[in-house]
Formats: sequence, C-alpha cells, structure tokens
Amino acid sequence: MTTRYRVEYALKTHRRDQLIGKFVLEPTEWIKGLLAVPFVLYSQPQGVFEGQGIHSSPQTRDEAHRRYSEILRDVEIMIDDHITNQNNADNPFPSKLKLLVPSIGPFFTRLPLEAAFKFQDRKRYISSRRFVSPSFNDVRLILNSAQIMAVTTYGTLQLATFDGDVTLYDDGQSLEPTSPVIPRLLDLLRKNVKIGIVTAAGYTTADRYYARLHGLLDAMANSADLTPTQKQSLVVMGGEANYLFEFCSASPDLLSPVPIARWLTPEMAGWDERDIDQLLDVAEAALRDCIKSLNLPAAVMRKDRAVGIIPLNPDIRIPRESLEETVLVVQKILELSSAGRSRRVPFCAFNGGRDVFVDIGDKSWGVTVCQRWFSNSGGAGEGGSGDDGVTIRGENTLHVGDQFLSAGANDFRARSVGTTAWIASPAETVDLLDELAELMGKKMS
Ligand code: IMP
Ligand code: MG
Repeated sequence: MTTRYRVEYALKTHRRDQLIGKFVLEPTEWIKGLLAVPFVLYSQPQGVFEGQGIHSSPQTRDEAHRRYSEILRDVEIMIDDHITNQNNADNPFPSKLKLLVPSIGPFFTRLPLEAAFKFQDRKRYISSRRFVSPSFNDVRLILNSAQIMAVTTYGTLQLATFDGDVTLYDDGQSLEPTSPVIPRLLDLLRKNVKIGIVTAAGYTTADRYYARLHGLLDAMANSADLTPTQKQSLVVMGGEANYLFEFCSASPDLLSPVPIARWLTPEMAGWDERDIDQLLDVAEAALRDCIKSLNLPAAVMRKDRAVGIIPLNPDIRIPRESLEETVLVVQKILELSSAGRSRRVPFCAFNGGRDVFVDIGDKSWGVTVCQRWFSNSGGAGEGGSGDDGVTIRGENTLHVGDQFLSAGANDFRARSVGTTAWIASPAETVDLLDELAELMGKKMS
C-alpha cells in the first residue's frame, strides 16, 4: 500500500462500505455532486450585484428549485428500480444505481426524495442560495426527511430506537427534565410507538441509567395520561446489545433489569464467554499500545462486555486524529487476531468523540433485541422475547443516531436491521421528532 493509498483507505474506504436502508457517505456525496451541476450552471451569483438580490429574483430560485427537484425525482426513480431489482432473486444483474454507486445496499423502503427536498427547501432555502451549493448536510437532512416520510406513509412506525450521547443529550451529559426531547418521546409513546434507547454506554445496574435518563423516566412515571401498556413500551438497551432494562414504576430507578434468558437471541446465546474474554484481552492490549505509541493522556477502562480508553481527567480532550487512529489500529488488530478471525463474537470499535470503546456486539444486535422484545405477542411487559410473535420489521423500525461517519460509527451498524436517520445534535433530533409527529398526525387524520 502506498502512503497515499493508505491515507485514502483509512479515511474514506472504511466509511463508504455497504449501505442499507438509506444513503451514507458515498451516495450522499454522489447526490451532492448531481445537485452541484445545476448550481454551477444556473445559480447566477451576479444577480446579487445587479440589484436583484436573492429574494428579488424568484425566477432564478424557481429554476434552481425545479432542477434540484427533477434530479431528486430521477434518483428516487432509480431507487425504485433498485428495490425491484433487489426483490427479484432470479435477476443476476446489478441495478443501474448499483452500477453508478457500488456501495449502495438494499433498501427497507422507497425514498420520496422529491417531496423531502421540497420540504427541506422550504426550511433551508437551498434554492435561494447563490454562493453556497447544496451541501452534505442539506443532502443528509433531505434523506432523513425522505426516510421518515417513507416509514410513516408506506407503512406504520412501530419502533423508534434512539442513541444516547449527542442524539438525546449532549456528549457525556444526561437527559435533564427541561430537555425538549422529553415531551416528544412521550408523544411517541402516546401514539403507541415502542421506544428503545440503544446506547453504547454499558452499565450493569439500573441506577447508572437512571442517572443518564432521569428526566425522561421521571416524566413517564409522573404522566397521568400514559396507559400502563404505553409505559411498558420503553426499554433501555445498554452496552450496544448487552444489558436490557424495562421501565418499571415500582422500582426506585424506574427501570428494572430484564434477565438475559428473556431477551437473548439464539445467535447471541451462542457467543462463548471464553471468546468474549479473549477478544477483550486482545483489544485491551492494543489500546494500551496505542496509549504508549501515541502518548495519549488516557486510561484504560475494562468492563465485562467492553474495554475502552477515557481521558485522564474530564478537562482533557484527546485529539480527534488520535482517537480515529486508535480505532483503526484496534479494529485491524482484532480482525487479524484469532478471536476476531473466527468471527464467533461480533464487536464494535468506535470513536465516541472523547473516548474509544470496543464493545461486544453492536447496535444491529441491540435494535434486533428491541424488535423481538416488542414483537406482537411478546414484550411490552408480557414477558415475551419475540419467539411467539412477529418480530417488528426493518421497514417499521427507525433508529436515530449521530454516529454514521466517524471511525467505527456505532449507529451505522443499525442500518442493517432497520431504517435510520442521521442527526448531528439533540436539537436536530427535536426537529426530526416534530417532523415525524406532523407526518403521523396527518396520517391519522
Ligand atoms: P452512545 O452515543 O449513547 O452510543 O454512547 C457512547 C458513549 O458512551 C461513549 O462514547 C462513551 O463515552 C460512553 N460509554 C460508557 N460506557 C461505555 C461502554 O461500556 N461501551 C461504550 N461506550 C461507553
Ligand atoms: Mg451517540
């Protein structure tokens, strides 16, 4: 590998692999590239100098809007064709989309991109811009809107899962009673949507999760209008896929641990404790090496289902590059180790923003457990692990998270089992939930 190739590989390739349910990096960049063409050809920045300011040249804006809409409609049609193709097991040929964007994966729903663009254009004035072309964030938000339109319009949202840090609260913080996310989550419960908080934060006891989520849990306990079944419709899946807690009004922490035998999937039951320990030993040694070679101001934290490095004190910020390097080194070492090569136990090494963790399992398993827990006849307090009922399907599931791009990107893993929305802050989660509530309200009326 030449240095250049290694740089490209390390920084880009690992982020561009398969895509399930919706676009991530390469496809997002691809759409951004398509939108750049009309921007360059029709944006007419000189209009700003000719006394026809942005808002006084509606023709320019309308023309840009029309062309952006057309492009997104074309991509939407291409995705429809791709979906037809993916559902036809006898067709050995790739779709046109697959040829154009090789990293594209299967879709759980079609994506109404044109309508989503029109919605975001009303909010973000994308077509009115003369100097700033449609950006990565514009496309990310258009894809989010398309995904939630799809999940509410073509089917019914049954399960919403949320990451914790950066999605529900700021990194390292807690869900305080004043958080605007709380009334929106209660609203979902009122609409009989099940909620899973699927966080990498791995604690073995309920009090630790109560400390992070107390605003929401107290609001649920004090809510007069949520029915007992709706209150039972929230679970916390911690350590990616390692600890399950259900809401419990009677417990002082408002959560009670669910015995592992009630929720472990048959595949997870096959993970051998010796393999897990061996994998974590290799990860720990690799993390210690990184601390030494990169001179990281960090300490190792070993848990029964995870190992990580955290800053020596809360005021220290380890440089992003060092965190990313650590993830990529540890990932590689694990992949090449005998524990990793055997693939008997899945793991997720990721950059948490301030720390690096290697967890046993990943969020695809965590979301799967929620889908089974809330399956039609099981879950929701009736004690089923989904074996008797119909597991909630990917197209009826939405996972909201922030980690789709940084090394390891733990929320990205959830794409393989459900639709996803990629947010960048708790404020964006609030916007997304408002959009969702409006769409669900429209559907109900
Ligand atoms: P998430 O964003 O809710 O998935 O939480 C990720 C963050 O949880 C990490 O960046 C860590 O700061 C924190 N954390 C605490 N314990 C663990 C653990 O056992 N594994 C992974 N992350 C952990
Ligand atoms: Mg997060």
